[in-house]
Amino acid sequence: MCRPAYYAVEYAINPWMDTTAPVDAALACAQWEELADIYTGLGHEVLRLEPEPGLPDMVYAANGAFVVDGIAYGASFRHPERRPEADAHEKWYRTSGWAFAEPEHINEGEGDFTYLPGRGLILAGWGFRTDARAHAEAADVFGRQVVSLRLVDPRYYHLDTALAPLDDDNIAYFPEAFAPGSRLLLERLFPDAVIADAEDAAGFGLNFVSDGRNVVVNAEAEGMARKLRDAGYEPVPVDLSELKKGGGSVKCCTAELRR
Ligand code: ARG
Repeated sequence: MCRPAYYAVEYAINPWMDTTAPVDAALACAQWEELADIYTGLGHEVLRLEPEPGLPDMVYAANGAFVVDGIAYGASFRHPERRPEADAHEKWYRTSGWAFAEPEHINEGEGDFTYLPGRGLILAGWGFRTDARAHAEAADVFGRQVVSLRLVDPRYYHLDTALAPLDDDNIAYFPEAFAPGSRLLLERLFPDAVIADAEDAAGFGLNFVSDGRNVVVNAEAEGMARKLRDAGYEPVPVDLSELKKGGGSVKCCTAELRR
């Protein structure tokens, strides 16, 4: 995780970002600390990446790489504003004992990639940020099957705004964010998925982090919390209202390190 010390909405690269709307920087930091405390309280280890001035989106640490089997596949950002973030992540992985795979194609790390260990499957999004060629690159880096899913709604520009793993085998997702063929693919692969509606998605209710039991989810997404509970999970709400102004929430702020 990367503390939002220099967080601001200085440019608009997704429909949530409004450079004229005020952001409470102190509140953003307090909300972020609360998220970190929740993880620690649930027994997870939180490692911190040093924030850098001039990189206001660095708080969205999920975008800096995608890590499976101890290998970090580096990010290569679509927008020039975020490109330098990749170097900070690369440096961290290289000096923290991870194998690092340099990317050739544009990809935004865990924003557009996720992994289901029980299936041995990587799920990957394309359409707005990550280049579909990066999906093949990831298959090559990890030696694992990659399922390509096309995103069609600009509000859900990253896979992690529209889909998230609940445990080793199952997911939750918002069908309307995907192209028809991708929806069919998701229905076939995950017949028992938790299906989110437009309100759940708009409250960033799919941008959650689950440890298989506890699901840390944006507090605004109350309906999503109910669906998660009905499905047998324990929702843990956290208010990330300030970070939503940059177009992200729980998952965007969290890079998962899979050994
Ligand atoms: N402002 C950032 C961007 O548009 C938000 C990134 C959110 N991160 C995520 N994993 N979806 O790039």
